Amino acid sequence: MTDQWLTADEGWGRRAVEFATLLEPAACREYLSVHHALDVGAGDRLLDVACGSGLALELARARGADVAGIDASQRLVAIAADRVPDGDVRVGDMAALPWDDTSFDVVTSFRGLWATTPEAMAEARRVLRPGGRIGITTWGHVKMSPGLWALTPFTLAALEKVDAQARMKSLGRPEVGEAVLTQAGFVGVRRHEVPFAWEFPDPETFSRALAATGPGYEAMQQVGEEEFHRLCVKLATERTRQGLPLCAEIACVALSAHVPTAPVRRLLGDAAMTPEAQSFADDDVAVLGFLTNARPMCLHRLRGKHGHPGASH
Ligand SMILES: C[S@@+](CC[C@H](N)C(=O)[O-])C[C@H]1O[C@@H](n2cnc3c(N)ncnc32)[C@H](O)[C@@H]1O
Repeated sequence: MTDQWLTADEGWGRRAVEFATLLEPAACREYLSVHHALDVGAGDRLLDVACGSGLALELARARGADVAGIDASQRLVAIAADRVPDGDVRVGDMAALPWDDTSFDVVTSFRGLWATTPEAMAEARRVLRPGGRIGITTWGHVKMSPGLWALTPFTLAALEKVDAQARMKSLGRPEVGEAVLTQAGFVGVRRHEVPFAWEFPDPETFSRALAATGPGYEAMQQVGEEEFHRLCVKLATERTRQGLPLCAEIACVALSAHVPTAPVRRLLGDAAMTPEAQSFADDDVAVLGFLTNARPMCLHRLRGKHGHPGASH
């Protein structure tokens, strides 16, 4: 474990209010889509990892969940705590979550967990109860996105920073996110596209919003604020539409999965616990909240017939 997380506030927190008001609201489509896919609702204890300024927490609470969040930026956390005063929002490192094992029913993370953060993925797994659900988002095929132009200013950062961003984003490539979640111990991994569009009233607001991000800060460290602003305004001016918001639609994918359920293994016995059997049983628990009586019998039958449960699928 390193102390690198302590530097996150420098980039992400320096213009926290602008981030919270100019950029984060556009992600509501993404939050809504993931909460819906995970069926977040009353009685769920939900943790949002790398919660930023907390809009996703506020929306989860509006669905009835008890919410907790963690972010490395104290200035973003101050806004998140203001938005969800009854939530448990903390400053900290997602690679060392300050909650006990099995504390949550749901973990979400919106562009907060990456291919480069396996420890944080393992922590998310640790704090989820058996059968608990996870939903994370990451960039999809950005180069094919109509809104690619809006991410271009980030490439002004030093080469090693741009390389690091690319390594993080590899989570969205086909099979990579699935492998990372499986390695962390999740089962039933599913991928779906989520709507994601940044919207701005004008090029200057676009520039201010981008300057409030971590990668924007890295770009400004390299070329200076003036040059960063000049490029942002130029790019956005070329995309201005009469009577419509400036819009950057970017490919974003969600990966959802759940934690295997211990009782299933006890019922079926270790020998019968193939990944397919686990996945069938976990689906019962994730969707219904319990293992149907028929499931162990059905899996044993399949095993007898085909050598292992699930072989007929
Ligand atoms: C791309 S932003 C996403 C923020 C938020 N999820 C949203 O939807 O706007 C990434 C966030 O990760 C946070 N972060 C970076 N490293 C972290 C760490 N080690 N532990 C916790 N949060 C971290 C940053 O402070 C920032 O808020």
